[in-house]
Amino acid sequence: MNLKAIIMAAGQGTRMRSKLPKVLHPLLGQPLIRYSVETTTRVTGQRLVVIIGHGSDEVRKELGEQAEFAIQAEQLGTGHAVQQAASLLQGQADLVLVVAADMPLLTEATLRQLVETQKNNTGPLSMLTLLADEPRGFGRVVRDAQGRPQAIVEEAQATAEQLAIHELNAGAYCIRAEWLWDALTRIPLSPKGEYYLTDLVEIAVADGVSVQALTLEEASEAIGINTRVHLAEAEALLRRRINRAWMLAGVTILDPATTYIEPSVTLGADTVIWPNTHLRGVTRIGENCEIGPNTIIRSTQVGDGCKVLSSVLEQAEVEDGVDIGPFAHLRKGAHLASGVHMGNFGEVKNSYLGPGTKMGHFSYIGDATIAEDVNIGAGTITCNFDGKQKHPTVIEQGVFIGSDTMLVAPVKIGEGARTGAGSVVTKDVPPYTLAVGVPARPIRKLEK
Ligand code: UD1
Ligand code: MG
Repeated sequence: MNLKAIIMAAGQGTRMRSKLPKVLHPLLGQPLIRYSVETTTRVTGQRLVVIIGHGSDEVRKELGEQAEFAIQAEQLGTGHAVQQAASLLQGQADLVLVVAADMPLLTEATLRQLVETQKNNTGPLSMLTLLADEPRGFGRVVRDAQGRPQAIVEEAQATAEQLAIHELNAGAYCIRAEWLWDALTRIPLSPKGEYYLTDLVEIAVADGVSVQALTLEEASEAIGINTRVHLAEAEALLRRRINRAWMLAGVTILDPATTYIEPSVTLGADTVIWPNTHLRGVTRIGENCEIGPNTIIRSTQVGDGCKVLSSVLEQAEVEDGVDIGPFAHLRKGAHLASGVHMGNFGEVKNSYLGPGTKMGHFSYIGDATIAEDVNIGAGTITCNFDGKQKHPTVIEQGVFIGSDTMLVAPVKIGEGARTGAGSVVTKDVPPYTLAVGVPARPIRKLEK
């Protein structure tokens, strides 16, 4: 049975009160729409169709090759939205899974269950529902005396009696394709001037065919996002879900409520995450690390056995057994080899620090290549920018850079050399040579 999916994402999201299309608002670091697209793609194993309209260029750009697109130029409701996919999907699918883009927490397992429900249904339509005390503006599921679904009534049209119903429409459906394309043309215009997809339930009942309702076990999966309040609620739930999964996988999280781990992050066992830590983007943290408190790590690879305290790491690479912080900043292209120590108030950008190199206090290292076992004294600065261009600094193995040395790039410090405290190095220093002063001059040879 060929299963295709449609994601409805054309609506403006008026209740967000935003210039940004609703489905592009970030939820734990990723645009909202990515969640439904990724989950649904895993279920069908095929490229899906996304209905776009409001902010269509931006949504298309965000998803790129991941989806096919159908334009809903005028947003005349969810029924009208699905109709826009007809020309792409007619004759291509036996079953169609329809999911709203603003339901990011629905899981793959739930959607698979919905598909299974429909496969076992003699009728053409299965829908996902939830039981909740707080209706959040969702459509109410009306059942008959035998418990068979009869209709979904939108809040604006519901009677007082219907408003009291606790079973709500979660906005995900699995529908037999042939029936769908025809039924869509039979949806009446609502009093609000929209074609509601939810009217398909009544149409099926009128056709005398069975509608199945799968009720969510975990109602929180159906947290839909219509306002920024919902966005924050969904973020908290998703965070809890992710943190819980990492704890069950062997990561200690001291305070899950203040630990922010994006879905694209991976963590090794026996790593400890202290409060107020933000792990973002494609970040990988190894085993036996201690991260935080008060740390932000974005798009960075961290090896095993590292410590990062109160620091910011962005687009960097850190090998095993590295000790960073407090108050350090790794920027794009920083690469600390194993056993590096980087103490307080240091910044490293686009530079390699070799194994065992120490940089204890108040330094800026930019565009530098530093070999192993180098000592970088307090206050050392690579003066890498001459006002127009960036220049490289090379420091060879076993060098000792005295406190407050200014390395005016381009410059190279040879193996085993030393610079005196406060020296301003404007010329290369040969290996095993001590250079001091302003500008720095070699004053004597050093023993190997
Ligand atoms: C919809 C359902 C409601 C359900 C709720 C669950 C209808 C009529 N109502 O209400 O029963 O409880 O979802 O979340 O379907 N969209 C389009 N084109 C449009 C209108 C909407 O693509 O013309 C898209 C939106 O971008 C959104 C989704 O469809 O991703 C749902 O639209 P929304 O306006 O949020 O519907 P709800 O009021 O939440
Ligand atoms: Mg909605």
